[in-house]
Amino acid sequence: MTAAQAACGAAQVPGAGPTLWLRVNGQAQAVDAAPATPLLTVLRNDLDLHGPKYGCGLGACGACMVLVDGVAARACVIPAAGVAGREITTLEGLGRRGALHAVQQAFIDTQAAQCGYCLNGMVISTVALLRHCPEPTDAQVRAALSHNLCRCGTHIEIMAAVQRAAQLIRP
Ligand code: FES
Repeated sequence: MTAAQAACGAAQVPGAGPTLWLRVNGQAQAVDAAPATPLLTVLRNDLDLHGPKYGCGLGACGACMVLVDGVAARACVIPAAGVAGREITTLEGLGRRGALHAVQQAFIDTQAAQCGYCLNGMVISTVALLRHCPEPTDAQVRAALSHNLCRCGTHIEIMAAVQRAAQLIRP
């Protein structure tokens, strides 16, 4: 695959089946997948990135969220080819062991996890929120997370986590 082909995002390699080029967590990734394959499937099955979770598969629960060019998006309903050439960031791309992203640290500090299944989406939505709204009101936090479902009911701790993250991020 040439750099020019990679730059186009999706290209056919003779004899090798359809190949998508995605940019994930700062790295170019070649994936053999049909263009309509959900981004979530590609991330989990082809790239071994299990931060984004499969919840409803319908765009309704938020468990699968990733950042696409810094905006929170539901990976279960995005065709992989639709985000070729865009910057995709998963939970794994936010921080790492020993150097967590401030939002990840805030969720730990406030003990906001119970079963943990929603946390990927909650963290991704919070990162996206704080990028454009560094001092959110509780109403703004509720609005930003309103499409992230938590079945355990740790909403009070999650609200506290977002405000703690805002504190950690502020200079
Ligand atoms: Fe994507 Fe529920 S799994 S929104």
